[in-house]
Amino acid sequence: MEKYLAPSILSADFMHLGESIKAVESGGADIIHCDIMDGHFVPNLTFGPMVVKAAKKISNLPLDVHLMIKNPDALIPAFAKAGASYLTVHAEEVVHLHRTLQSIRQLGVKSGVALNPATPLCLVEGVLEETDLVLIMSVNPGFGGQKFISSTLKKVEKLVELRAKNNLSYVIEIDGGINDETIESAMNAGVDMFVMGSAIFDTENVKKTTENFKRILKSK
Ligand code: DX5
Ligand code: ZN
Repeated sequence: MEKYLAPSILSADFMHLGESIKAVESGGADIIHCDIMDGHFVPNLTFGPMVVKAAKKISNLPLDVHLMIKNPDALIPAFAKAGASYLTVHAEEVVHLHRTLQSIRQLGVKSGVALNPATPLCLVEGVLEETDLVLIMSVNPGFGGQKFISSTLKKVEKLVELRAKNNLSYVIEIDGGINDETIESAMNAGVDMFVMGSAIFDTENVKKTTENFKRILKSK
């Protein structure tokens, strides 16, 4: 399967968000990762559908919207309308996961489910058919620039196995602590989509850094 680079704008320069998005786009990014935080599900606050809509307007890339919020069902229609291509909810938060994932697909958006580092994979095994993307958190959600938790790759390996065994086609995404030291282990485990925040945006030349990571992903 092709490997996709998903820069997370959480670490971008928010006074120049448009330029930041254009820089990763011209560097070859495949999709823009938008981290939505509500100060309750995670101890940080970011932005909502208005910023997603603005990003959609200035970029040709699809938007990968990661909902780290309480009661995501209430906001799914708004994020779909804002232009999300993927909408990912956390399995720890959603009670009727099967229904929620179906409701995302019914809006014409790809459905995603995310798991925190402490959450076992068995929580989502019953909904893999309803899922277009499984996001494995490799840090505890809330902040950029944290250290990669390598034990989370066991879940990636298991997801690769389950996908083949059940003839499914979900994308496996990793999020948190991916940089030039950790990307290779994630590639070896079978990750398809790589979220990268600080390793891309906290560099001098964002376009060049994006090109370099894209090259690494193409090398295997
Ligand atoms: C963390 C977010 C991540 C974050 C990753 O809660 O979900 O998407 O932007 O940042 P880095 O790549 O710096 O770990
Ligand atoms: Zn994220």
